[in-house]
Amino acid sequence: MDQPNPLRAGLRIARTPEACTVVIFGATGDLTARKLLPALYNLAREGMVPAGFSLLGVGRRPWSDDDFRAEMRKSAEQFSRVQPINEEVWQTFAEGLFWVGGEFGDLNTYEQIASRLEQIDQQRSTGGNRLFYLAIPPSWFDDAISNLQKVKLTEQSHGWSRIIVEKPFGHDYKSAQELNDLVSRAFDESQVYRIDHYLGKETVQNLLVARFANAIFEPIWNRNYIDHVQITVAESLGIGSRAGFYEEAGALRDMITNHMMQLLTLTAMEPPVEFNEHEVRSEKVKVLHAIRPMSANDVDQNALRAQYDQGTINGDEVPGYLAEKGVNPASRTPTFVALKFEIDNWRWAGVPFYLRTGKRLAKRVTEIAIQFKKPPLLLFPEIRDEIESNVLALRIQPNEGITLKFSAKQPGQRMIIHPVNMDFRYGSSFGVAAPEAYERLLLDAMLGDPTLFTRRDEVEAQWALMTPILERWENDGVEHLPHYEAGTWGPDESDQFMQRDGREWRKL
Ligand code: BG6
Repeated sequence: MDQPNPLRAGLRIARTPEACTVVIFGATGDLTARKLLPALYNLAREGMVPAGFSLLGVGRRPWSDDDFRAEMRKSAEQFSRVQPINEEVWQTFAEGLFWVGGEFGDLNTYEQIASRLEQIDQQRSTGGNRLFYLAIPPSWFDDAISNLQKVKLTEQSHGWSRIIVEKPFGHDYKSAQELNDLVSRAFDESQVYRIDHYLGKETVQNLLVARFANAIFEPIWNRNYIDHVQITVAESLGIGSRAGFYEEAGALRDMITNHMMQLLTLTAMEPPVEFNEHEVRSEKVKVLHAIRPMSANDVDQNALRAQYDQGTINGDEVPGYLAEKGVNPASRTPTFVALKFEIDNWRWAGVPFYLRTGKRLAKRVTEIAIQFKKPPLLLFPEIRDEIESNVLALRIQPNEGITLKFSAKQPGQRMIIHPVNMDFRYGSSFGVAAPEAYERLLLDAMLGDPTLFTRRDEVEAQWALMTPILERWENDGVEHLPHYEAGTWGPDESDQFMQRDGREWRKL
């Protein structure tokens, strides 16, 4: 009998979570408006949330429940992926929305939350099940977590208590450890859900399906056949109104430490023996441990950063990073990073993984490209240089799909060889819109499945790899910082970075 594909939609989400209350700290913020509320509404629309599902917003505004409902309605109208809003669904959903106003540093706020949750349990039969979501700046984490513990909301005496922690999870290895210590004083690891929304993307999950639900890829997924791997996360947007955050973070912390390391580990990991939280996450952590840490000298060779200057994107003039509102005019924060990692294990020894990410690049595209070795070419020596390597390109976004590039003979009497593509596109193959990453992740957290969340040792291992790079970059102070024109693919140094190894970035 055929093995069922464990990731197939339906199998894992056939269960509906138990009735519960999601408590969002930072419910007036951008994340709630743009992502969390629309995700919860869409889950409700699809019948994925249980009867009695409730959402308690917490923030500083002195709102009533009705004020909160009205605000959330606006965000659903503006940001839900499905429009228009279904009145019937909304009415039922809105009955479960409640508000507690107060300061995050004030114990009284948490006492109010506790008593409100008890009322909700009684009115809506939510059984003491609570999912806390920290959608607040990290400087508030300590207050929120310690106060939740003081009012005993971290305990699971009746019902369950879980916590979702948004990124950034620390800003270096030490602070990630400290945050983990703080969280683990109040919650057991099994209650903790460190979110990385890239893991909620359908196409990222499909990477596992492509690898492990097909027999043809795995035998060639190694150093015998693969020359190198390129992972690109390019954005055309700038930093918008997030200068305060971005100035401190920069591209290495914002994109590489979390999202791109997830893409790398899913690409490089061994097949887990089961698709569950222990096996999948352990295999990813093994990859992180196998990545060769960089010495200061390696950083100079294998890590490149740059910052955008003014330029043109889609015909519009855009300012340089230093002219963005809130940015220090002397800032050296990188908005572009390219890295080369070596993975010292049997599967990948000698196969470099190249990563690049940047703001204000030519377009928005995320792709993992597996570049195969060239064939020995004994048959066609005269056209050796014309033959391009096979590439398996996994397009994460947009135009989600998978493309295999291979060589074909151009029809005619002469031996002319051209690369051609075999294409799979989600849009045309399935014709259904994929759920948003936050829908999947919120549902998994309500179901109690942390497989697609980052484990404690994983987040620390990610940061451990970044430490030498951060130290080298942040302590040098004088070294030249390359710049690139907005709307291009990065600085010239980025091309040289690949040329040194006799390779080039894919043109996307
Ligand atoms: C966030 C980063 O985590 O991911 C942003 O902080 C970035 O800077 C965003 O723009 C990218 O997410 P997506 O889903 O648009 O690729």
